[in-house]
Amino acid sequence: MNNSKNKKKRKKPYIAGLAALEFKVQYDWEYKEAKNLYENAFFEIPIDRIIFKDCIKGMDKLPENFVDLIIADPPFGINFDGKGSQYNRDSGFVIEGYNEVLKNYNNFTLNWISRLPRIMKETASAFIFSGWNNLKDILIAIERANLKVINHIIWKYQFGVFTKKKFVTSHYHILFVVKNLKKYFFNKIEHYPLDVWEIPRIYRPGQKKNSTKLPEKLVMKCIDFCSKPGDLIFDPFMGNGTTAYCAKSRFRHFLGFEINKNMKQMLKQVIEKTKAGELYQPYKTFLPSKEEIIKKYPHLRKLINNGRNIKV
Ligand SMILES: C[S@@+](CC[C@H](N)C(=O)[O-])C[C@H]1O[C@@H](n2cnc3c(N)ncnc32)[C@H](O)[C@@H]1O
Repeated sequence: MNNSKNKKKRKKPYIAGLAALEFKVQYDWEYKEAKNLYENAFFEIPIDRIIFKDCIKGMDKLPENFVDLIIADPPFGINFDGKGSQYNRDSGFVIEGYNEVLKNYNNFTLNWISRLPRIMKETASAFIFSGWNNLKDILIAIERANLKVINHIIWKYQFGVFTKKKFVTSHYHILFVVKNLKKYFFNKIEHYPLDVWEIPRIYRPGQKKNSTKLPEKLVMKCIDFCSKPGDLIFDPFMGNGTTAYCAKSRFRHFLGFEINKNMKQMLKQVIEKTKAGELYQPYKTFLPSKEEIIKKYPHLRKLINNGRNIKV
């Protein structure tokens, strides 16, 4: 077969780095616009709070087509005893009441994931976190709930539990799923966003916590790509409140569940200390500068200097 016949002819020759230099963020909001959207958003029920209840029962009480984005980091059903564990955690520092769900993990997973589509808007998406041990349960539940997988993201972190006779686990899986393939919201804020995210875990030795805490940078990334200022971010497993913190500091609203009532005080402090919009910046300010791109692709400077008409 003659492949060259099938290939579309490029109008202009390919120049490495040029698209990155010309890239513009798809949707962006100045600080004032974002604040305005946040302050004027309207919801049918009280939001910006954490409900201390089992999310499986609680989700049934939420309105239909209600949330814009879901960040769900469920318990992994793994015994974090610091011996056989794949994941780095010392159970001695985990706040009492933490619920790891060691039995019937597949039922638990089917139960909570099946409740997501009803509360999601047509434009909504969800980021579902999973270790590799229970990935099959998560994937089956996603399929049964009729959610569509857009990306299977790997979060690569810098360290795992030391091993003697196997490779060290240093990644998690993140399933980026949507309710409606045609309508879901995605803001292309980077020119070339990869599906492997290298983000270090924050190691907090000796600090009291409720389970594994996700890095803020990771949660922020989900929020930035898949929601707008004023949107509602839902987290069924609030843990240490990372989603609440990230949402509020980026001018988004939040709502979540946490089954461990011993976390109340700590979570109240997290929410109260966070100032709405404290980390908000228009997305264009996160883009690499022209100089940074030219440093990576020096031929672009030569092209510009030689008078080639490059729009930036
Ligand atoms: C992996 S942690 C979430 C950590 C969180 N993403 C963070 O960054 O801090 C899972 C949390 O879900 C809670 N949990 C377990 N079963 C639950 C349920 N049925 N409803 C609500 N919360 C639950 C646990 O107590 C734990 O705090």
